[in-house]
Amino acid sequence: MSKLKAIYPGSFDPVTYGHLDIIKRSSLLFDELIVAVGNNPKKEYLFDTEKRVELLKDSLNSFEKKFKNVKVTSFNTLLVDYAKDVNADVLVRGLRAVTDFEREFQMGIANMDLAPNIETIFLLTKPHCMPISSSLVKEIAMYNGDVSEYTTQKVSKELKRKFSK
Ligand code: COA
Repeated sequence: MSKLKAIYPGSFDPVTYGHLDIIKRSSLLFDELIVAVGNNPKKEYLFDTEKRVELLKDSLNSFEKKFKNVKVTSFNTLLVDYAKDVNADVLVRGLRAVTDFEREFQMGIANMDLAPNIETIFLLTKPHCMPISSSLVKEIAMYNGDVSEYTTQKVSKELKRKFSK
């Protein structure tokens, strides 16, 4: 049987426990999982791509499980073009609430039109991760609040450093 390769794309600005939960569960479903840090031109990022990749790698290493089949990369193209380049079969996205659905549905359909052989699957976020978003984490950190419930120590430290400047 051929091996299934999936991509979990996102901005990860910064990575949160919500993302790590999706990575953990996806890594059990596929033979190989590529966590791909992308760039959305409509977004202004707090961390540059290199830092977002580094924080993801670091957070994965310190998370509860060793992720042997997970690779972290970045890409600058259309997601489906990147997926074709790396021969991925599946795109994974997390769904937190109905509010995510409309945009995900739009992106999913566009990706399906652009690359009919690549499937998108959605994993429901664990209830305790529902309120988490990268923006929320950044806002709490900006006011010097405690983000340890939402993200890893490494990310918390990096946010502190960023906002103390
Ligand atoms: N847990 C916690 N937070 C989650 C989450 C989860 N399971 N799933 C999503 N989020 C949050 C993120 O933290 C982020 O929060 P923020 O808005 O506060 O920053 C938000 O949901 C959405 O972010 P993300 O999932 O990273 O998506 P995005 O809208 O930034 O898109 C790409 C990122 C890379 C997938 C997208 O820009 C892309 O595909 N780019 C390539 C260009 C392309 O192909 N475009 C056409 C697409 S049809």
